[in-house]
Amino acid sequence: MALTGKTALVTGASRGIGRAVAERLAADGALVAVHYGRNDTAAKETVAAIENAGGQAFPVRAELGVEGDVDTLFEQLTAGLDGRGLDILVNNAAVIDYGDSIEAITPEAYEQVMAVNLRAPLFVTQRALPLLRDGGRIVNVSSGVTWFAQPEIVYAMSKGALNVFTRSLARTLGPRQITVNTVSPGITETDMNGWLQQPESAAGVAAITALGRHGQPDDIGDVIAFFASDEGRWVTGQVLEVNGGLWLGPNSR
Ligand SMILES: NC(=O)c1ccc[n+]([C@@H]2O[C@H](COP(=O)([O-])OP(=O)(O)OC[C@H]3O[C@@H](n4cnc5c(N)ncnc54)[C@H](OP(=O)(O)O)[C@@H]3O)[C@@H](O)[C@H]2O)c1
Repeated sequence: MALTGKTALVTGASRGIGRAVAERLAADGALVAVHYGRNDTAAKETVAAIENAGGQAFPVRAELGVEGDVDTLFEQLTAGLDGRGLDILVNNAAVIDYGDSIEAITPEAYEQVMAVNLRAPLFVTQRALPLLRDGGRIVNVSSGVTWFAQPEIVYAMSKGALNVFTRSLARTLGPRQITVNTVSPGITETDMNGWLQQPESAAGVAAITALGRHGQPDDIGDVIAFFASDEGRWVTGQVLEVNGGLWLGPNSR
């Protein structure tokens, strides 16, 4: 229960990696704000799972990328925190548009992906700063697409910018002993990756991964919990690839 007495906001915590992060931080003792956009059922399930396991959580519904998104989020967050400060911010929510190739991308689609994946973490963080206690933690969730190439160009650009955001912010917040790091998942089984349900796709990923399988959300959540913990206090401004050894090189000699 290393996080007893601490509070956390995890964006996009109703499903996938965010849910695993929320469950793990709550299991470690934190009161967790389970942020989500639209899926009330999933958010309720996450909060219930945390409470059934003896943890504390409350839902925060705020669709990111729309007018007033940060205001909506912080109204509910501050109500749920009820006068307490914030110790941990995990900027996890993001979207991928599988039509976002260089040939097909439109200005509207560009704006939408950037608004959720980049503008929201920037302004959520800005709004969180007065609430964040000195010695706090910020973890941004990026992606391996910052170093391997895939056609979804705007998604990759948004994550590349997030890595840069981490470094700049780490420098700025150092005097307050707030660490800022990026966790960069590899290919992880969530709703974002429905294609992994096909056995041949999963086998293809396993073949290019040193540890021989794709990731599960708690593979990522456990690492984020490290950055959020006291053990992570001397690490800031870093990007950690958490991917089971994706594309380390050929598996056969
Ligand atoms: N899965 C992977 O293989 C993989 C790989 C690399 C990086 N990542 C990164 O890991 C993070 C989590 O991905 P995931 O695969 O867990 O995603 P996911 O399963 O699709 O879950 C997305 C979460 O974000 C929320 N969300 C999405 N759009 C939102 C919006 N406009 N406003 C508010 N909330 C919104 C969703 O809320 P609702 O439930 O309300 O829709 C949900 O909680 C993302 O940053 C992603 O880029 C994932």
